[in-house]
Amino acid sequence: MRRLVLYSLVSFVLVCVITSCKNEQELAFGRYFANGKVLYENHCQNCHSKEGQGLGLLIPPLTDTVFLKANKKELGCFIRFGLKKEIKINNTVYNENMPADDHLSDMDIAQILVYVTNSFGNNQGYYSVLEANTDLKNCK
Ligand code: HEC
Repeated sequence: MRRLVLYSLVSFVLVCVITSCKNEQELAFGRYFANGKVLYENHCQNCHSKEGQGLGLLIPPLTDTVFLKANKKELGCFIRFGLKKEIKINNTVYNENMPADDHLSDMDIAQILVYVTNSFGNNQGYYSVLEANTDLKNCK
């Protein structure tokens, strides 16, 4: 009997810990997404446009693409250091120049990426500032 009580107590505590962690992450997600939207409007939208569709052959789209998923860990590097190489997105080749934006902090970049990778048809979930710290240290 004692054991049973103890067991139920432990599982109750575990469930509480797990659900509060989840809520915590959901809250963080909401915060990142909202801030990321504002940062996107100020730093990216001019080129990539409001719906992320890009502009003809000059600016690639940020809509749900294999490229965005395959390069998830490097997206922050593109923002901080710019991108100037031939890339292929939805069978279209782009070879233009995205300027570096070195005013954005790791947190800004994490928030922008949460917004971008969960908008325009993307659904990649949360990306924390800790992940951004690591990925930005590994930029090639
Ligand atoms: C001055 C215009 C300009 C601005 C501002 C700009 N980009 Fe870009 N972006 C480009 C161009 C041009 C490319 C393609 C570069 C190439 O071909 O090498 C690109 C490529 C990309 C890519 C990789 C290709 C793709 O479409 O998935 C991502 C991701 C991206 N930009 C995200 C952003 C984000 C997020 C911001 C804001 C922080 C931003 N860009 C700001 C012009 C811009």
